Amino acid sequence: MTTNRGQFGSRLGFIFAATGSAVGLGNIWGCPTQAASNGGAAFLLVYLVLAFALAYPVLMAELILGRHTHGNSVAALTGIANRGLTRTIGALTGLFGIVVASLILSFYAIVAGWMLGFTVSYPLNVLGMESAGNWLTEFSTSRNLSLMAIFMVMTVGIIMGGVKEGIERWSTRLMPTLIITLLLLVAYVLTLDGAMTGLKVYLIPDFSKILSSQLILSALGSAFFSLSLGVGTMLVYGSYIADREHLPSIGAQVALIDVGIAVLAGFLILPAMYVAAERGVDIFSASGALLSEDTLIFTVLPELFATLGTAGVVLATAFFFLMSVAALTSSISMLEVPVAFIVERFSWSRRTAALLMGAAIGCMSGLIILNFETLFGAVIALSTRYGQPLLGLLLCVFVGWVWQRNSLLAELEKNDPNVRHGLFWKIWPVYVRFVCPVIIAIIFYRSLA
Ligand code: PHE
Repeated sequence: MTTNRGQFGSRLGFIFAATGSAVGLGNIWGCPTQAASNGGAAFLLVYLVLAFALAYPVLMAELILGRHTHGNSVAALTGIANRGLTRTIGALTGLFGIVVASLILSFYAIVAGWMLGFTVSYPLNVLGMESAGNWLTEFSTSRNLSLMAIFMVMTVGIIMGGVKEGIERWSTRLMPTLIITLLLLVAYVLTLDGAMTGLKVYLIPDFSKILSSQLILSALGSAFFSLSLGVGTMLVYGSYIADREHLPSIGAQVALIDVGIAVLAGFLILPAMYVAAERGVDIFSASGALLSEDTLIFTVLPELFATLGTAGVVLATAFFFLMSVAALTSSISMLEVPVAFIVERFSWSRRTAALLMGAAIGCMSGLIILNFETLFGAVIALSTRYGQPLLGLLLCVFVGWVWQRNSLLAELEKNDPNVRHGLFWKIWPVYVRFVCPVIIAIIFYRSLA
């Protein structure tokens, strides 16, 4: 089965691809403002602890399962079950993951399209093509449809190239670009008036806030979304890792880079917001909380850029380019989930599978755009608030309870014969069996309530 599957060419290639999937819109527009409104560095500490104590074990479950079966998510989950009923549940869980990954992509592509539009609009305005520039940044069905379609074509194009020539090659180009752009933006913004106030708000810890259970739950939710867990993305990427690689340490590197970039993004976003405040831009909502998410990205920051003249144009272009890159390396990992399944299950060519799935998900995005008020928020909630935790739970149950311990151990021993005496094997299996399912179940219950 492994013969005509792709494989990452190098460890670094995998790390770029997996962190590319993990680092997305969530890290940059969610985490920093959440931190600032919830105890600053104290929140970051909770986030870090949760990412390692709970999200990392689930990430490992996906990577190990994927690498063991070297197959798509349905093949992997049925592969470790040896009874009829568990196999059926495994297949259904895998299929559910494929549907949720596709749903996430269907709204993600719309937002990513806006990022592309903003990136191009600034240079267009400089060239005097203001009406085109305005069209790209103003909300309209035609703009939403066109930009979503362009973004989808880019995603499909990369996936058609395959694991090594598509995903790995592009992630290896785009991720260093993203990190360098982010560092340059941070360095510049920190020189502006007001930046230090933002930095203080971001970093001075307020431990009184972090004891709230609501906060801990929302930090955990962000950690799950941010590490792309549940839907089979990391499982499928894991299935392309060579047997010689040491999974626990590769997984730790991916988690560390993802959290690191979320923290670094805060060094850009918070100072930028307070620079904006210094220049008269409103950065608080009516309730007194810091503006966040889409309002932050598409209203507050553009207002700041507008006050900075030529530097603002460069800054804006670089910032929206950064967001577009972050979105693209995540969206390819979402599309890979259904494509890997179709290629392996129905023996279609990767080209055909990518084109057809891209078109189908593009149609779904189109449907959301045409019924924006009703569908946009609903699809986000359905896929990320309910779908992802539920899938994470099922995944832990499969790896913790259905997969035979000996086979699991044998998988880890492939590149570490002493793994059974190490810390990872002492802690991780208990986590996946007991701790993770219970905590995820609590989050899920809370999100329903
Ligand atoms: N991790 C991505 C982000 O932070 C989102 C994502 C979710 C990607 C699920 C793949 C699968 O934006």
